[in-house]
Amino acid sequence: MIEPLVDVARDFPILQREINGHRLVWLDSAATAQKPNQVIDSVNDFYRWSNANVLRSVHTLAAEATTAFAESRRDIARFIGARKSEEVIFTRGTTEALNLVARGLGDSLTKVGDEIVVSPMEHHSNLIPWQQLAKRTGATLRYVELAQDGTITVDALRAVIGPSTRIVALSKVSNVLGTVNPIQAAGEMVHHVGGIIVVDGAQSVPHEPTDVQQLDIDFLAFSGHKMCGPTGIGVLWGKSQWLDQMEPLQYGGEMISYVDRDTATWAEVPEKFEGGTPNIAGSIGLSAATRYLSNIGMKKVHQHSQALGQLAFDTLYEIPAVTVYGPGRPHGAAIAFNIEGIHPHDIAQVFDSLGIAIRAGHHCAQPLMQWLGVGSTARASVYLYNGEQDILRLREAILETKRYFRR
Ligand SMILES: Cc1ncc(COP(=O)(O)O)c(C=O)c1O
Repeated sequence: MIEPLVDVARDFPILQREINGHRLVWLDSAATAQKPNQVIDSVNDFYRWSNANVLRSVHTLAAEATTAFAESRRDIARFIGARKSEEVIFTRGTTEALNLVARGLGDSLTKVGDEIVVSPMEHHSNLIPWQQLAKRTGATLRYVELAQDGTITVDALRAVIGPSTRIVALSKVSNVLGTVNPIQAAGEMVHHVGGIIVVDGAQSVPHEPTDVQQLDIDFLAFSGHKMCGPTGIGVLWGKSQWLDQMEPLQYGGEMISYVDRDTATWAEVPEKFEGGTPNIAGSIGLSAATRYLSNIGMKKVHQHSQALGQLAFDTLYEIPAVTVYGPGRPHGAAIAFNIEGIHPHDIAQVFDSLGIAIRAGHHCAQPLMQWLGVGSTARASVYLYNGEQDILRLREAILETKRYFRR
């Protein structure tokens, strides 16, 4: 029996709730993860005892807040293996991080004749910024073709990455198919032709050890709320050489070096990209989340997510009239499925009546839905507070949904 990795009763108050008379089973962590007390307390404590703005006033609370903010950046840098904390830019989340690279660097990096490579499985956040970039600069958007099981092969990458490729933008793990993509191979290919690789880590950073240096990538974007942290905080990590060249998108306070009536010069990285008052409490909460995960050990988190994701995939695969999408093995923490003749929203509705939260819809990946030939799917996604018991509840819920609609 696979048990949850953590003491759920102690750490996750929300998971003690009953929904419609049943113990809540949270299978929607790919949308957002639940927060442990350790994270909730860190945010509360900041507001309760240390609240002040950062990087400006000289009083004691401002100094405390500024130190805590800087320490958060260091914790997060350490969590992803960054060379230095200045390479960590705080954003609102993955979406803002990817838009920042596409606009701040993409505009100067691409022109007519250049190519930007994406895949059909990308979340809209890692697709539309590149579509728009291609429109602005006249570059061409190219797609790496997916294999039949939804994976990206090294050969498929080779077929699309060439001398004109300036940017490859790929998710490390799909939020729908649970596919794990060959990021290192893509990075090697694009570096060989002098381009860069931008990685959407929204679904990988929460679940596996991340080492940006070992991955040898140029940018990594991820969101705090999918890794037990608060909403409204995320990260763009980038290699210093690119961050130094990248243009800021937000102009205003704290991102300048000097301003006169007609001109302004920018502060150093990372302040250059963080105009205005940052999400101080969010960054403190995110660093608490990285400590929470590190204390468990990201290797253990990874093994757990994979074992449970695989179990869910295999369990659903066995049920007649259920289609499960994506590769059989290895399968990540997100499992997309459909039940013949039943709309995914109806599935999610019946599940809710049984206390089980899943997502139904296109998962912000409409080109992938087109590739799968469906309008939408149901999706269950697991994390460290789930156990085998939850997969049994998922199985029961599918059987119940089938019975309900047969009636
Ligand atoms: C793979 C992937 N990329 C990007 C995002 C966007 O993240 P956010 O909404 O936190 O900016 C998500 C969120 O679901 C995602 O799963």
